[in-house]
Amino acid sequence: MRTLHSQTAQALDQTITVNGWVHAKRDHSKVLFIDLRDRSGLLQVVTGSWNPDVYAVLKECSMEDVLEITGLVVARPEKLINPEIVSGTIELQAETVTILNHSQVPPFEVNQDTGSVDEELRLKYRYLDLRSQRMHTNIVNRAKIISFVRHYLDEQDFTEVETPLLTASTPEGARDFLVPSRLESGSCYALPQSPQQYKQLLMVAGLERYYQIAKCLRDEDSRGDRQPEFTQLDMELSFASQEEIMQLNEELLIALVTQLYPTKKIQQIPFPRISYQESMERYGTDRPDVRQDPTDLSLLAFCWVVDFPFFEADEKGGWTFTHNPFSQAKAEHQDWLMAKDRIGEILTTQYDIVLNGSEIGGGSLRAYQPTLLQKTFEIMGYNDQRIKNNFSHMLEAFSFGAPPHGGLAWGLDRLVMLLQAEPNIREVMAFPKTGEGRDPMMQAPAQVESSQLSELGLQLKG
Ligand code: AMO
Repeated sequence: MRTLHSQTAQALDQTITVNGWVHAKRDHSKVLFIDLRDRSGLLQVVTGSWNPDVYAVLKECSMEDVLEITGLVVARPEKLINPEIVSGTIELQAETVTILNHSQVPPFEVNQDTGSVDEELRLKYRYLDLRSQRMHTNIVNRAKIISFVRHYLDEQDFTEVETPLLTASTPEGARDFLVPSRLESGSCYALPQSPQQYKQLLMVAGLERYYQIAKCLRDEDSRGDRQPEFTQLDMELSFASQEEIMQLNEELLIALVTQLYPTKKIQQIPFPRISYQESMERYGTDRPDVRQDPTDLSLLAFCWVVDFPFFEADEKGGWTFTHNPFSQAKAEHQDWLMAKDRIGEILTTQYDIVLNGSEIGGGSLRAYQPTLLQKTFEIMGYNDQRIKNNFSHMLEAFSFGAPPHGGLAWGLDRLVMLLQAEPNIREVMAFPKTGEGRDPMMQAPAQVESSQLSELGLQLKG
């Protein structure tokens, strides 16, 4: 049976079998040390001329070869204890060894930090990049965050619901990725920019408390904190006030940091709240970095930004939404909305959550009465036909007793990036795209067979 490296210290004086990759090799003529790596960390394996068979095999093995080694766990002398590694109090005296698989020389060294390696190369060989310790830790900690969130929300009576990836195109701020339909030639699905409409429809369906770790797809240029495909913690609640939704999210974030990142310090609890106007005046941005000491890597300065304008003028002299067309105007401005009056002054119930100057989430209460939603679309200059084509399903759903509801979505990648103190979200995503939206490992996007195109009734121009 296999023993993990993290459990070897408990097997002192026993013969055990371990598996892993050759992480480092030190040949001191007649004595040979191998650092073997498994998912739990490193183990020092020792052999020498006293065991010529094992010595010969290990002497010839290459970095990143996959080994199975059986041997005796022995304590290290006090001065050779290595607190840096998970099995640092012991070492394994190899008795038999099998090379399970050979590795060719990797295109970059994975036993050191890969941060300075050309990123295109790292993404092409992402499966090797992910072997490096920092990347491995990022992916493992991301999973711990997601698991914590799931557990927390399950305990609070939320239901996780998966919503479709093949859906309809609706204007939500960014460009859609389209998927041509084979069965309905000439028509396209759109990949969701967020589960916004589905989650609202789940409120109409009476779910009351929904969440999802949701894939979102937006055809926009990548940046350090932006990817065409990213993950949200998406949630929606019925019969909950803005205060309750903000409170729930604040408590969840505090619990998460306290539990999983106990060495980090949250600058201020409760999180300060800043109006959009104040944020623009004081910080010149709606994602203010309110850290008192920006050099302190362990400092987490959360704040809420509230009271956003609902609409902003577009280039054509009309109005467009600033955040979310499904938001509800603040109660005191709903008369203006219904009268299409003082449009630029209408504030919405939008609340954004900002961490160290990065927008890590946003949400709002929603216009759940069809008349309010209809008016929002009219202000944005949508004619009846367009409203009918794009939104009749929402307006109709709301006419069947839609409960008051609201929600919020975290940009999960951004949160993980900040908690792991990484400079960009690609470092905390297993398989991100390049800045140009490519996946150099899978070689996507790629040309497809012309037969596939014709099946879809498509002909490409260029
Ligand atoms: P919004 O568009 O503000 O709201 O998205 C919510 C959060 O998702 C993150 N985010 C991104 N992260 C990585 N790459 C991207 N391209 C990207 N775009 C957005 C941000 C942002 O705060 N449906 C609404 C939420 C709601 O109202 O409930 C929505 O999607 O951290």
